[in-house]
Amino acid sequence: MKSCATSTLVCSGTSPLRDLFEQPENTTPLTPEEMCELIPAHIAYRSELNEAEQENIARAQDWALARRRDLLSEKFVKDLHRRMFGDVWRWAGKFRTSEGNLGIAYYEIPAALRQLLGDTRAWIEYKAFPPDEIAVRFHHRLVQIHAFPNGNGRHSRLMADLLVISIGRERFSWGSVNLQDAGAVRQHYIAALHAADDHDIGLLLAFSRS
Ligand SMILES: Nc1ncnc2c1ncn2[C@@H]1O[C@H](COP(=O)(O)OP(=O)(O)OP(=O)(O)O)[C@@H](O)[C@H]1O
Ligand SMILES: [Mg+2]
Repeated sequence: MKSCATSTLVCSGTSPLRDLFEQPENTTPLTPEEMCELIPAHIAYRSELNEAEQENIARAQDWALARRRDLLSEKFVKDLHRRMFGDVWRWAGKFRTSEGNLGIAYYEIPAALRQLLGDTRAWIEYKAFPPDEIAVRFHHRLVQIHAFPNGNGRHSRLMADLLVISIGRERFSWGSVNLQDAGAVRQHYIAALHAADDHDIGLLLAFSRS
């Protein structure tokens, strides 16, 4: 296993690894400790990282879609994240243990997630909102919590897809682009999340089917 002390030295130099961790605008900055958490030794460039992550996520989607599962449990939330990122990152499936620039205080994550899972069960049981709105509200609250060191956007969108399928609708299209790419569609998505922060879910609801 890589030692973090050693890897921190590597990461702070001018090697290709440096380039790997320069995050594009609007993504989670990694702490130096997190930078040490890459598993495949051959990855040196962002393009290779993106490819490895996409392959990992594709396998996780196949696993998740293969049969009905109990989605609304802490175990599944963590399992899905681990399946999506576990071939690439050591932090996969583990809650944050430090503050980032997004999300609630890390020590509040388990309680906030439990509250969200309970609320979502109740929304479904009592048909509090139409199915799409339940899943979009779930996505917004889950990404607001920002439970993991990274990958929260992709994970919480797939969670919402699985949830909406489980309550009888087709999966979402989320702007029909790769939302990781910076651009107008991503800006529109982030603006819709901010509107949802201000209790206006309409933009995000429309975006999810765009
Ligand atoms: N101001 C913001 N800037 C960036 N992301 C935000 C912001 N507000 C909320 N978010 C959410 O956080 C996600 C980014 O968090 P994180 O980097 O952990 O996930 P990710 O899957 O790696 O991101 P992404 O796929 O969007 O690049 C976004 O996809 C979005 O859902
Ligand atoms: Mg990210």
